[in-house]
Amino acid sequence: MYFEKSKGFPKDFLWGSASAAYQVEGGWDADGKGVSNWDKFVRIPGKTFKATTGDKAVDHYHRYKEDVKLMAEMGLKTYRFSIAWTRIYPNGNGEVNEAGLQFYDNLINELLKYGIEPMVTVYHWDMPQALEDQYHGWESRQIVDDYVNYAKTLFERYGDRVKYWITMNEQNIFTSFGWLKGMHPPGKENDMKTFYQVNHHANMAHAKTVLALKEMYPDAKVGASFAYSPCYAYDRKPENAMAKADYDDLQNYWWMDIYAYGRYPRSAWAYLESQGVTPQMEDGDEDILKKAAALVDFMGVNYYQTCVAEYNDINGVGMTNTMNNTGEKGTAQVQGVPGLYKNPANDFLPTTDWDWTIDPMGIRMCCRDITSRYDLPVVISENGLGAFDKVEDGQVHDPYRIAYLKAHIEELKKAIDDGCRVLAYCTWSYTDLLSWLNGYQKRYGFVYVDREEDENSGTLNRIPKDSYYWYKKVIETNGEEL
Ligand code: BG6
Repeated sequence: MYFEKSKGFPKDFLWGSASAAYQVEGGWDADGKGVSNWDKFVRIPGKTFKATTGDKAVDHYHRYKEDVKLMAEMGLKTYRFSIAWTRIYPNGNGEVNEAGLQFYDNLINELLKYGIEPMVTVYHWDMPQALEDQYHGWESRQIVDDYVNYAKTLFERYGDRVKYWITMNEQNIFTSFGWLKGMHPPGKENDMKTFYQVNHHANMAHAKTVLALKEMYPDAKVGASFAYSPCYAYDRKPENAMAKADYDDLQNYWWMDIYAYGRYPRSAWAYLESQGVTPQMEDGDEDILKKAAALVDFMGVNYYQTCVAEYNDINGVGMTNTMNNTGEKGTAQVQGVPGLYKNPANDFLPTTDWDWTIDPMGIRMCCRDITSRYDLPVVISENGLGAFDKVEDGQVHDPYRIAYLKAHIEELKKAIDDGCRVLAYCTWSYTDLLSWLNGYQKRYGFVYVDREEDENSGTLNRIPKDSYYWYKKVIETNGEEL
């Protein structure tokens, strides 16, 4: 569609930036915090780039005041961060840790002091290891009650000050990496049956959390954050168009339909039946999923890239570790589901050093698809560029990041002109942080942090990059000056 004059961003648009507890906090055993599945996983040789851990991360746990002050100077409207379950319940359930609750009280109050809206993610992948030991974590239905209990503790404590809640970050990623690709805890591969069961448990945890929040705070705004990669058919060959349809049902709508409609897509369900991997549901589950979906306020979208779907022969490529986690361009391999689709590179688009496709128009497509399929507002909860940054004379010049963000914001503006309701745009990330599998060399922040892979490297000093000053202007002009 073409509009001669843009409506621009709404007056109350939330210009934001984001992080996650494990990736920034450090203080991995501070003040009564319990051990998470990631604290354990990173210690298994070969699992992360150069054996990096989040033990110290970028020490946000001790430097949050300095970080928030920089946010305020930038004019940030919202800061999205996650809470470490293990700080609140060191064992996942049982006794609550007051020191952990206090840390997030302090962070939230610090943000509010400067008029920055806190946007809280309940779960960004760091599950208490104690729950893994007690009942294999997400594999057991028992986790639903513990999750809701943990979430309710957060609502009770922070609900008077936090309006925006994200129940879960990228369920599609942590489950596929954990049970299909072996790259996240618990490190299982090709376990389709458990993968779908785990997802059903996560869906129930999400749904019951939404219901609990709305009972306590009916005016709160809630949604899940989904890693959404819109997909192009490889070409006009009908079998490739069908590969796209399969990809959408199994990789996108499988999750988004649950959040927005409270039901699984029929054709994906039929495929699961044919493979004997449908999840076990209990009486009443469908009702709970539907009730929660009716109360969801937005679709959270983490947008990084689009993909391509091409028919994949029954003997074709699978899902296991095909990623480029080193930053050596051109080392990622094609992945897929035999008999359905594979995802070759898109020759029309450039890529990052980690082989992620750069496609600004994709963010507009996310918004358009969500608007026409679900008629829900959108919160862009992540979007950003992972790159190698260098300090030169005490400064960090990152024109490539500015170009990336500018192009995406321009497309987001068009999505708003197209009629999409977009509430917020959070870049990934605010400060540099630990990239789960890619160490500290893959940097995303507006604020450079002086550290490398080695735990004892660097001063952890903060240096605002050129993109920091650029985004300050974007916020000041409400997206008019890009
Ligand atoms: C999202 C996650 O998948 O993408 C973040 O929510 C993550 O936690 C981000 O850091 C970028 O991914 P990566 O692998 O480059 O760190």
